[in-house]
Amino acid sequence: MPTASKTPQHIAIVMDGNGRWAQKRHLPRLAGHKRGVDALKTATQACLTHGIPILTVFAFSSENWSRPAGEVSGLLELLNVALRRELAALHERGIRVRFLGSRQGLEPDLCAVLHDAEQATQANQAMVLNVCFNYGGRWDIVDAAARLASAGKPITEASMNAALSLAPCPDPDLLIRTGDEHRLSNFLLWQCAYSELYFSPVLWPDFDAAELDQALQAYASRERRFGRTRPATVAVPA
Ligand code: IPE
Ligand code: IPE
Ligand code: MG
Repeated sequence: MPTASKTPQHIAIVMDGNGRWAQKRHLPRLAGHKRGVDALKTATQACLTHGIPILTVFAFSSENWSRPAGEVSGLLELLNVALRRELAALHERGIRVRFLGSRQGLEPDLCAVLHDAEQATQANQAMVLNVCFNYGGRWDIVDAAARLASAGKPITEASMNAALSLAPCPDPDLLIRTGDEHRLSNFLLWQCAYSELYFSPVLWPDFDAAELDQALQAYASRERRFGRTRPATVAVPA
């Protein structure tokens, strides 16, 4: 178990591998996405238990619209159904839910469900769950810069930080990607500049609390330098 000071305050996860999980079992890909929701519930509870105040997950990328229409509509429907089903339980546990990403292309009914969930949980303080849906890191940067420019505001690191969709949450300390892929796939490009990266071969539906513990242990053993030199080691007299 990592020590408190070595516990990340913000974890981001690319929840990858749902399709392969299903295909291995000769199930439709959507069955994997459904099990992925269960894995997200497990990860959220594990973060609450560890006292990790912010969890940000990648649920649907700007590029995922390129998937077969049936999978896309299934994912949109799954978000709608899972959110309606889980909202009360999230609220009871004091979890604030936010949705990061463009609302363009989403049905008004889904937009209303997302908006209502954000409103209903906005005062909750136990934990923040940011769900990135129809999200892309490049979209996020361009959208933030365009809003600053049209308001006539200067574009600085501080103003960008404040305008990006993750604000006011700090950058992730730890970025986990499951599913044995080693790339960002357009997730939080700006905000992960100094995040520790952890890649797991485990497919997302199989990523349980013990797997999260392993990621936390790996994180606790990292030395974050942010461009500095290593701390001076004390010379031991011979
Ligand atoms: C991640 O699982 C979920 C989404 C991208 C929506 P995938 O659907 O990418 O699963 P694999 O990578 O095909 O196994
Ligand atoms: C990234 O996974 C997006 C999500 C997990 C939502 P993908 O499966 O879409 O990424 P690529 O296509 O393998 O890079
Ligand atoms: Mg994938």
